[in-house]
Amino acid sequence: MRVAEQIRRIERMTSLDRTTALLRRAVEALPLGRFRDTLHGIPLGHPLHPVLVQLPIGAWVSAAVLDSMPGYERAAHRLVTAGMLAAAPAALAGAVDWSRQQQRHRRVGLVHAAANTAAVGLYALSSAARTRGRHGLGRALGLAGLTTVGVGGLLGGHIAYSLAGGASHADYLLDRLPSEWHDIGAVHEFTEGEPVHGMLGDTPIMAVRTGEDVRVLVETCGHMGGPLSRGTVRDGCVTCPWHGSTFRLTDGAVMRGPATAPQPVLEVRIRDGVVSVRRPRPVATVPRQRGETVPVDTAAGKDA
Ligand code: FES
Repeated sequence: MRVAEQIRRIERMTSLDRTTALLRRAVEALPLGRFRDTLHGIPLGHPLHPVLVQLPIGAWVSAAVLDSMPGYERAAHRLVTAGMLAAAPAALAGAVDWSRQQQRHRRVGLVHAAANTAAVGLYALSSAARTRGRHGLGRALGLAGLTTVGVGGLLGGHIAYSLAGGASHADYLLDRLPSEWHDIGAVHEFTEGEPVHGMLGDTPIMAVRTGEDVRVLVETCGHMGGPLSRGTVRDGCVTCPWHGSTFRLTDGAVMRGPATAPQPVLEVRIRDGVVSVRRPRPVATVPRQRGETVPVDTAAGKDA
């Protein structure tokens, strides 16, 4: 409880804002191109950073285990070095995520990064000591590095879980949508290419008309909850006004990060010019001949 309160205090430390602004500009200026989306984790469908951090942490924990046994000095040293090398891509992926988060995330993230940078520094000193044959000192510095990584991990966990920094802010809303059809208006009431905000029960939705077609998505951006109806629509996609995530209107696929999970899309039916929506049906099984069942994706069809 006291630890959590200390971390909450970091969220409110406005004294960190100048540094975060400077570093954020530096991260945004990195010439990463489309690789930035890979670092966010779009090919995985969730953030890449928590996957990559397993490598340095695994290497350093293994080094600590070997350090506790005589005769494994060389192998432990190699693991210390491997951990330092693996920390670089993990840090880069974390930095690009961090640069597109909210201020409270960025403040805690700055301290998280500082702790992990200190840990890498301790491991560099540990490696230098081991190179000089001072294995006792190398072990002690390695242990200090591992402890510091633990502090960094605690802060990273706070960002991921308490602040939901890597979670989809839209997916859970799917379960709140009604499974029955609900009319949301006539096709001609929607202005072509202009996102419209609406509520379906207590869930915000966003509708866009393209010709005689209407696409409807959960309005809350999966990245950090931005209002997609205030975004821009172009080339069959909507771009969030907060950090620029771009989703395809037809299926919610992420075309550009920082969002990594697809934006939930509602099932749409147009009958006699009236648009109705409902929660997309999951992949279901329907009976076949002789009692067999076969999976069918029932979510895609438009019942015009
Ligand atoms: S809230 Fe960050 S891109 Fe939408």
